Amino acid sequence: MKEITANELRKLYIDFFVSKGHKQISGASLIPENDPTVLFTTAGMHPLVPYILGAEHPAGTRLTDYQKCIRTGDIDSVGDPHHLTFFEMLGNWSLGDYFKKEMIGYSFEFLTKVLEIPVEKLSVTVFEGDGTVPRDEEAAARWRELGIADDHIYFMPREDNWWGPAGETGPCGPDSEMFYDTGRPACGPDCKPGCKCGKYFEIWNDVFMQYRKEADGTYHEMSRKCIDTGMGIERTVAVLQGKKSVYETEVFQPIIHRIEEMCGKRYGESEDDDMSIRIISDHIRTSVFILGDQKAIAPSNVGQGYILRRLIRRAVRHGKKLGIESSSFLPELADTVLSLYGEPYPELLEHRDFIHEELLKEEEKFSQTLTKGEREFEKMLPNLMKGNSRIISGRLAFKLYDTYGFPIELTKELAAEHGFSVDEKGFDEAFEKHQETSRAGAEQQFKGGLADHSEATTALHTATHLLHAALRKVLGDHVGQKGSNITAERLRFDFTHPSPMTKEELKEVEDLVNDAIRRDLPVTIETMTLEEARKQGAIAFFDSKYGELVKVYTIGDVSKEVCGGPHVTHTGDMGHFRILKEQSSSAGIRRIKAVLEK
Ligand code: ALA
Repeated sequence: MKEITANELRKLYIDFFVSKGHKQISGASLIPENDPTVLFTTAGMHPLVPYILGAEHPAGTRLTDYQKCIRTGDIDSVGDPHHLTFFEMLGNWSLGDYFKKEMIGYSFEFLTKVLEIPVEKLSVTVFEGDGTVPRDEEAAARWRELGIADDHIYFMPREDNWWGPAGETGPCGPDSEMFYDTGRPACGPDCKPGCKCGKYFEIWNDVFMQYRKEADGTYHEMSRKCIDTGMGIERTVAVLQGKKSVYETEVFQPIIHRIEEMCGKRYGESEDDDMSIRIISDHIRTSVFILGDQKAIAPSNVGQGYILRRLIRRAVRHGKKLGIESSSFLPELADTVLSLYGEPYPELLEHRDFIHEELLKEEEKFSQTLTKGEREFEKMLPNLMKGNSRIISGRLAFKLYDTYGFPIELTKELAAEHGFSVDEKGFDEAFEKHQETSRAGAEQQFKGGLADHSEATTALHTATHLLHAALRKVLGDHVGQKGSNITAERLRFDFTHPSPMTKEELKEVEDLVNDAIRRDLPVTIETMTLEEARKQGAIAFFDSKYGELVKVYTIGDVSKEVCGGPHVTHTGDMGHFRILKEQSSSAGIRRIKAVLEK
């Protein structure tokens, strides 16, 4: 078997699929475009959803790329040897071109011929079927035909082997995951791929977009079938190099060495220090990619900027824990990340100065208050210890946030280290009281962060939410977003509705939107999990497979919707909303084009 590095794997994969007639396309920004319901791009397929849904891709029907991804659901797990917030995903797509038989063939060839993994080291899972969709015998038969033994093929339920649809309806299908067997003994009789004991590592996932889920919950086989696959680079090289953890690979070792030099400690000697070293290594890598993204996000109190701030502040705190004295160690570490990734991701080098400046500012600012905040916290401890409850009040958590800049998650971590939990509800209440003031500031920063969004597109984003809400009011709750595309001149909105709209309906929708603009409603943002957003009645037409945090925008009493933004802070200055055209987009889907006139 080949021992390969991340750089080699990236190249081998792309070259392999190019040799099979695929076009290499560039990976997208970490900040999703247009229909974002999650803060970050979470998989290679994410930017390709419109094409899987049917749009024509300019590069053709066979595509391959490497994509930078962030999964924020993992932040609090980082520190253990396996979780990462940032990772790279390799992928290839067939858009109505080849399907299951060919794809499984490609996977088998790449794994066994290019990576030279012995067949007996591979196990695969396939969909076991349920009341609505049959068992994926076709996939199992193909694996068998290629030489995977029967006892290495596992049939698994929907939770494990099903993808999609992206919304309530649309393309979806079974998938087949490939696992590498490390050769460690099984942890018990039920040990199989997917088991967390570390015997099996998932290295690749082939998704077969075969069905369309209809509004009535039934599934129909589609004539235009698609393939989506994803292979995580860091995990795969760790496994193939026989390393126990991604942190032991060449992807992290240079960062870890630099941290060792800075703190004079060695990785592998104390579990506590190792954890801090892993947290800093992961967080600096992710921070550099967010700052150095095409969209150059700066730390702030909302959205992606808030995640970035949390990562930087958590890294700073663990730096202090390790005894690093400098209050500018992150910019130095950033250079190590840049030297590792400058070539495959040239946008990082283009933002070198911005990355340095923002890291320096944030680290200096937070270093100054961190010590005071921790002291404040420790001063309270003896008192807290006296009581029976092991709960930090919301008021104290809010004080740490407001005065010392402790993200609530950091306070939770600090509290947990002393055996306490935090009254988060109390924190939210204290937070809400201060929201009026913090909102204005946060939105200012948000605007700065997404500098490439002009005023015109920002207003059109907000107009799209008002339009969505108005359509639901006039036509009914069956109206759901199917697509959105915004230029500086106009918005285009696709939505589910069975018939053309009447003149009266169009007028009513226009009036509702203009009425909301005239009322100068405030637009507020909150960050929460998708589940919480749904609970609060927010419209969210996408599923979050990975449990990420989402942004919820509320416009006065008119609209509450999960979205990536950006939006205006008040609806007042948006101009006059006019619908230019209402037409059919495809079966059951209408399209509106509209403008804001000043
Ligand atoms: N989109 C698929 C995944 O994320 C390949 O696993």
